Amino acid sequence: MARYENIVILTGAGVSAESGLGTFRDEGGLWAKFDPMKLATPEAFEADPDTVLGFYNARRANLADAKANAAHFALAELEQNWMLDGRANYLLVTQNIDDLHEQAGSAGLLHMHGELLKTRCTRCGHLFSDREDMTRERPCPGCGKAGGLRPHVVWFGEMPLGLDQIYAALDRCDLFVAVGTSGTVYPAAGFVAEARRGGAHTVELTLEPGEISDLFEETHYGPATEVVPHWVRGLG
Ligand code: APR
Repeated sequence: MARYENIVILTGAGVSAESGLGTFRDEGGLWAKFDPMKLATPEAFEADPDTVLGFYNARRANLADAKANAAHFALAELEQNWMLDGRANYLLVTQNIDDLHEQAGSAGLLHMHGELLKTRCTRCGHLFSDREDMTRERPCPGCGKAGGLRPHVVWFGEMPLGLDQIYAALDRCDLFVAVGTSGTVYPAAGFVAEARRGGAHTVELTLEPGEISDLFEETHYGPATEVVPHWVRGLG
């Protein structure tokens, strides 16, 4: 197997599914129960902040006892070995807003859709780790004013985070791996095409073929806790 130097991994909700956190578009997924346009847009927050904050408070509470699974640990182990082998670059881009990659020890990690366990003040911009409920009455620990707290999560219609860093990494990578993502939401769904343009080998590790599966040169289907550790062990 070729020796790769620059890897970019993209994860989606499927990598956290076996930790008990729901996905979005599978049977019974989050967007089957809730309307994202009423809960995950700036307009929804403007119109009904209490409902939007309540939705994210519930998801934050649900995260409290979620544990990283074998797929998260396999990716953290891959990172450690990658660096120990003296290979050039490793970047793990996640669309997930949970903290399971951190729990497993991932370091070179970029949350392009933000983080559920961080709160931001829309008045002063103060950004802080937070496991408490967000309410309109709660004062910002930065400016002391109430009424400005929101989850540090990227909503539909907002710019994902870290895109400059991501595209620079995609242009230079020789290995691109997508784990547990349906490939339905851009710009993440376009990363595989970007990696191919740069000549990277492309791998999809997910439960079943999705919208962009035919863009991957190598695909392995099955639960992430089986497919990811197996693939990592087989990597040259
Ligand atoms: N193991 C591996 N993959 C799985 C598993 C599992 N146990 N269970 C589900 N999957 C796969 C599904 O086959 C699907 O391809 O995970 C993917 C989940 O797709 P989505 O629910 O669309 O989640 P994701 O791709 O992360 O959504 C992208 O959409 O709503 C926005 O911001 C949200 O980050 C999210 C983005």
